[in-house]
Amino acid sequence: MMLHIPDVLTSAELTHIRGVLAQAGWTEGRHTTGAQAAGQKWNYQLPVLAPEAQPLADLVRSALLRHPLFQSAALPKTVLTPRFNAYEDGGYFGNHVDGAIQPDPVTQAMVRTDVSTTVFLSDPDDYDGGELVVEDTYGAHEVKLKAGDAILYPGTSIHRVEPVTRGMRLASFIWTQSMVRDSHRRQMLFDLDMTILKLRAQLGDTPEVVALTAHYHNLIRQWAEL
Ligand code: NI
Repeated sequence: MMLHIPDVLTSAELTHIRGVLAQAGWTEGRHTTGAQAAGQKWNYQLPVLAPEAQPLADLVRSALLRHPLFQSAALPKTVLTPRFNAYEDGGYFGNHVDGAIQPDPVTQAMVRTDVSTTVFLSDPDDYDGGELVVEDTYGAHEVKLKAGDAILYPGTSIHRVEPVTRGMRLASFIWTQSMVRDSHRRQMLFDLDMTILKLRAQLGDTPEVVALTAHYHNLIRQWAEL
């Protein structure tokens, strides 16, 4: 599933994050990935353990977790510490797949990367290129969103970031281990949740809407791993 999640960050949060990132000590990102990805990557990353990084990471994680669409689509068990990256001067990240298991550098927890999320931090008018391209069975999808919005996409996908040919693209990316490992089950639960929301808005809490809601929660009881 690919899902556009609007307004993850408020404008005040965006302003704060950009202000901190403008002063931050970036390092070259090519040193931070495995052998397969390192040769096709040119960007800057904020070291996860940098003192300025952790409050920003907490802010982005809290913003995602309070968003009902993220909750419904990701059914998060563990949200890895968000990371920050910057692309400029032709910087890019070629086609790659993310490692299946990632250690959280802060908590040391090992996290399965079921769901990937990118939160866009730069206004799309401020840079050219920099599209996130996600390939799935339906083809390649180009994503470039307004600042503060996020795209959620499968951790299993091959994806890339196109070269940034003008300006700077700032983003945060986040891996999430879901309570529901199977992506088809997650998709069905998300579709059911969204349908129940619409039915409730149309009909109120009729006995049928309550019964469907019970089905939703009972499926989570069947499928969730805690
Ligand atoms: Ni990636």
